[in-house]
This record gives sequence, structure tokens and C-alpha cells, in this order.
Amino acid sequence: MANSCTKRLAGKIVFITGAAQGIGRATALRCDDEGAEVIATDLNFEKLKELQSERSSIKIDTLDVTKSEDVKAMITEKYPQLNVLFNCAGYVFNGTIETTTEKDWDRSFDINVKSMFCTSQTCIKLWKEKGVAGNIINMASVASSIKGATNRCVYGATKAAVIGLTKSIAIDYVGNKIRCNAICPGTIDTPSLNDRMKATGDYDKSRTDFITRQKLGRLGAPEEVASMFVYLASNESNFVTGTCFTIDGGWSI
Ligand SMILES: NC(=O)c1ccc[n+]([C@@H]2O[C@H](COP(=O)([O-])OP(=O)(O)OC[C@H]3O[C@@H](n4cnc5c(N)ncnc54)[C@H](O)[C@@H]3O)[C@@H](O)[C@H]2O)c1
Repeated sequence: MANSCTKRLAGKIVFITGAAQGIGRATALRCDDEGAEVIATDLNFEKLKELQSERSSIKIDTLDVTKSEDVKAMITEKYPQLNVLFNCAGYVFNGTIETTTEKDWDRSFDINVKSMFCTSQTCIKLWKEKGVAGNIINMASVASSIKGATNRCVYGATKAAVIGLTKSIAIDYVGNKIRCNAICPGTIDTPSLNDRMKATGDYDKSRTDFITRQKLGRLGAPEEVASMFVYLASNESNFVTGTCFTIDGGWSI
């Protein structure tokens, strides 16, 4: 827990999607430590309640990021004061171009990219009206956007799109002092990663394979990504926009 003299996110109101587990959850806790007001949203209300029972100061709300009207209504009617948006919700679909259906493609783009279009568009409209120097941090990935990853055709395409979206927002709103950056993690030890390992039928081998591709010889922790987020959400990074921050244990070297 940061002490009151060093709270790096004092005055920040951080709205997080996909905050019930993994990187989003770790970030919600860390932002709270750093003095931010935190709004944690997710599809999974049960898990959000667990988060709130651990940290009652975090506000929780159910939000499916694929429901554009709900996204717009929640941000404009309930949390118009937010000044940092973390687009973290995401979904990994495994497959090559041959095994990916059009439905898989559309679903992946809806969750991983269109959701960010909608949250970001809503926030930018509000921030421009009020003259707020807002800040958007988008969750991309090293997988397929920076480094080729086998069997991640549509996932990689969505995360590359996130990088493009990030640069587009950054260049269009730099004059409004609205910043936008992306985080590109390598393999991070989260519940969904563990589910994917179990689904292979050989958890131990799958875990070893994932560890091996990180040249530092281990998986990343969600808290390590949260540390990078704190820098990007804070005023320490006020001169940083339109950039992708890789945190991948050396995978992409
Ligand atoms: N874990 C990794 O190795 C890794 C690496 C690179 C990037 N990422 C990205 O980081 C983000 C978080 O991944 P993670 O592994 O920490 O978490 P996770 O996959 O374990 O959890 C994702 C959370 O998003 C929520 N979610 C899914 N669909 C949603 C929707 N439609 N609306 C709202 N919430 C929804 C889930 O309920 C869940 O709580 C994702 O965008 C993922 O692509 C993860």
C-alpha cells in the first residue's frame, strides 16, 4: 500500500473494463493503493463482488463491453467524471486462419476492438465538452501484433487493430491533451491463461511451453502489468502518447 505522500494517482478516476480477474483486477487494486477512485466493471458480477469484499473502496458495476448502448449509458449517466479509461476486457480465441469461423472473427473483434471504439468514443466526447485532458490505456498484446504467435490468427489481428486504434486516437486528440497508449504484455499468469493450459489436456507441458517462450524464464505477474499501467495513468507520463509499451519477459527480443 502506497503511503499518502506518494500516491501517484491522486485525483484520477479510473474506469476499468474486464476488472473481475487477471490484469484488470490487479490494476484495480493497485490504482486504489495509489489513491485513484476506481470503477471496476466486468460481465462477471460474482467475481466483482469478491474484489469489492477485498477492497470496499472500489466501486463495481456489471458491464458487457459488447453492448454499445449499455457502455454509452453507463459512462455518460453514471461515471461522466472519469478521467482515465482502461480498456482491458479481452478474449483469446485459438485458431489458424483455416480453423477460425466468421462468427469467431466477429466475436473476437466485438470484444477486443469494437468495445474500445465505443468506450473511447464516449469518453472523448465527454472530455472534449468539458475540456478534460483524459487518458486512455488500451490492452493490446505482444502475441501476433509485435511477435508472431502460432494459432492466434484472429486474436493477433484484434490486438494489432488495438495498436492502430491507439495511434489514431493519440494523433487525432493530441491537441486536446487527450493521451492514448497501449500495453503489450507477453504471457501473464492469469485465470484465463490457466484455463487455456488446462484445455490442452497436458497442463504441465503447456505451462512449460508458455514459460519457455519468455526469455526471462517465467510468466509475468498481473501486478507487473499493473505497475506499467500506473506509470501510464499518472502525470509522470504526461509527455507520452501514441506509444506501445511492451512487457514480455524478453519474448519479443
Ligand atoms: N494473460 C495474458 O497472458 C495476456 C497477455 C497479453 C494480453 N492480455 C490481455 O489482457 C487482458 C486481460 O487478460 P487477463 O488474462 O488478465 O484476464 P482474463 O482473461 O483472465 O479475464 C478477462 C476478464 O474480462 C472479462 N470479460 C470478457 N468478456 C467481457 C465482456 N464482453 N465484457 C466485459 N468483460 C468481459 C472476463 O469476465 C474476465 O473477468 C485481455 O485483453 C487480454 O487479451 C493478456
